[in-house]
Amino acid sequence: MDQLKQTVDREAVLNLLQAPNKPPEELLLNYKGILYPGAVCSKELFEALETFEARNDDLLICSSPKCGTNWVFQILSEMVSILKNKETVLDQLTLEFGNLQLFESNKARPSPRIFSTHLRFPTIPKSFFEKNTKILLVIRNPKDAATSYYRFHKSLPALPTYDSWDLFFKDYMHGNVCYGSYFDYVAEWNKHIDGDNVMAITFEEMKTDLLAQLKTISEFYRLPLTEEQLCEVERRTSFASMKQKSEGTHGKLSEAFFRKGQVGDWKNLFTEEQSKEMDEKFQQKLAGTKLGDLLNYEKYCKF
Ligand code: A3P
Repeated sequence: MDQLKQTVDREAVLNLLQAPNKPPEELLLNYKGILYPGAVCSKELFEALETFEARNDDLLICSSPKCGTNWVFQILSEMVSILKNKETVLDQLTLEFGNLQLFESNKARPSPRIFSTHLRFPTIPKSFFEKNTKILLVIRNPKDAATSYYRFHKSLPALPTYDSWDLFFKDYMHGNVCYGSYFDYVAEWNKHIDGDNVMAITFEEMKTDLLAQLKTISEFYRLPLTEEQLCEVERRTSFASMKQKSEGTHGKLSEAFFRKGQVGDWKNLFTEEQSKEMDEKFQQKLAGTKLGDLLNYEKYCKF
């Protein structure tokens, strides 16, 4: 298999491209009060996840939607591949996507397994914490995350269609979208961020100095890469390089997952009023918290 091997658990995720011809409310699964994409998530899988057995050497990426999950997955996958002297990249396993068959086959996968998830903190399988699995939390400024999420809804038929940005913005602010409120997501994580096995990184820091972040990530996971190897990972995970490979790694989903990869695109979409509304929400929920500070809101979220 070559470098362009499919890396996403494609069977599950490809369902997002199907247009199921259902009214918007039926596209979503409501499980214990949180909405999920019904095309890829199921109640049975959520129930099975309660007994999921994590391993100490799993690598778990947690993020709210559109904050850079696929980017960080590629980074970890490249790091592991380089250390193992392999040209192939590992499969990206999204904890909450797929069916019971995929769930069962994931149990038998050899280590290290790289999982990603958008599950909210209380729903992450307990075993990750019992096994002291290292967790990388990826966060991004909420204005760009909302912008990216809106565009994502436009490219995936299995997600509800919005006739306008204004309508999406309202739902985003009320947490009326898949995985619920961005602000609650980050606030929940903020209570657990001091654990030894958790490290938070931001999309913006990775954009500013990817190599420095790669060093931090490799130290956190104790992946002993040389300077030269880290430079190789940097080259392979630039936006241009990932976009160019994306037909191979993400197939028909490539356009949806690799759009602009920029910081500040929200300025093309938000009105002054919407920007202020989000500023107030940030102030209420995250200002002065550890993760709120890490987001550097003043720098990235002001006109
Ligand atoms: P945009 O829609 O703003 O372009 P996720 O993987 O969590 O779904 O996040 C998707 C976002 O990450 C998209 O943002 C995508 O373009 C961006 N992205 C993916 N790979 C990237 C890379 N190597 N560098 C910068 N941004 C990247």
